[in-house]
Amino acid sequence: MLSPAADAMAPFARALADAQKGQRSALRFRRRDGSTHEVAAQDFLQPFGYTRLERALLDELLARCHPGARLLDVGCGAGRHARHLAERGFEVDAIDQSPEVVDVARRLGAPARVASIWSLPLKHEYGGALLLGNSVGLVGSLARLPPLLARLSRMTPLVVLDSVDYGEGHGQVQVCLEYRGESGAWFDWLHVARSELRAAAKPAGLRVQFLEVEDEEPYGAILSRETIPSPLPTSKARR
Ligand SMILES: C[S@@+](CC[C@H](N)C(=O)[O-])C[C@H]1O[C@@H](n2cnc3c(N)ncnc32)[C@H](O)[C@@H]1O
Repeated sequence: MLSPAADAMAPFARALADAQKGQRSALRFRRRDGSTHEVAAQDFLQPFGYTRLERALLDELLARCHPGARLLDVGCGAGRHARHLAERGFEVDAIDQSPEVVDVARRLGAPARVASIWSLPLKHEYGGALLLGNSVGLVGSLARLPPLLARLSRMTPLVVLDSVDYGEGHGQVQVCLEYRGESGAWFDWLHVARSELRAAAKPAGLRVQFLEVEDEEPYGAILSRETIPSPLPTSKARR
């Protein structure tokens, strides 16, 4: 299994840095099967630039957390969600394992630091955690999803995430990022099927509610510790 080493993210960091300077920066995701998919790096600078689902998920997070709560943004990228939350008075610990990506986030004013979710001490307690832009995919393989959720469940009673459901057993892809002729290292990126998420969340003591936005392929999920009563959904959250 290939983890997304920091250098795999170098093209992402460069595209974000150029987008920050106002340059149009098309980032390409290349899969091992040869298929490619292009996104504008600008989308990863705006809190809700990539999907409408992101707004719905952040609204859910804000509705369920105490004002000023400490939040963990895992795989924060350019820190677009961390900035949005910090501006609303939350104390955000935004982590990303790529130093180059963190540099961009910090230049944009996000409270970001270099850290991996796997090295964060479990004693840290957060009001909520977010893994957006399919940051949950950083696990790389389905086998590593239960340990990630168990770890998060030890640190926080609430997790919001998004992913894409390609069906059970079809979500693991090898990807390399390309930007302006430069390619990063190949890494495994997981897209988690809804049923796989539910199965992995159960042993971690997490209940899953899905959140859908019309005409968007990614789905959202709100994971809450079974022992913590969860308030009524404020948007289109459903069990
Ligand atoms: C697809 S990007 C999503 C960025 C951001 N959440 C967003 O929506 O704009 C995934 C990010 O996860 C980071 N990452 C990968 N493995 C990680 C790990 N083990 N711990 C923390 N961050 C990691 C990558 O460097 C990358 O910036």
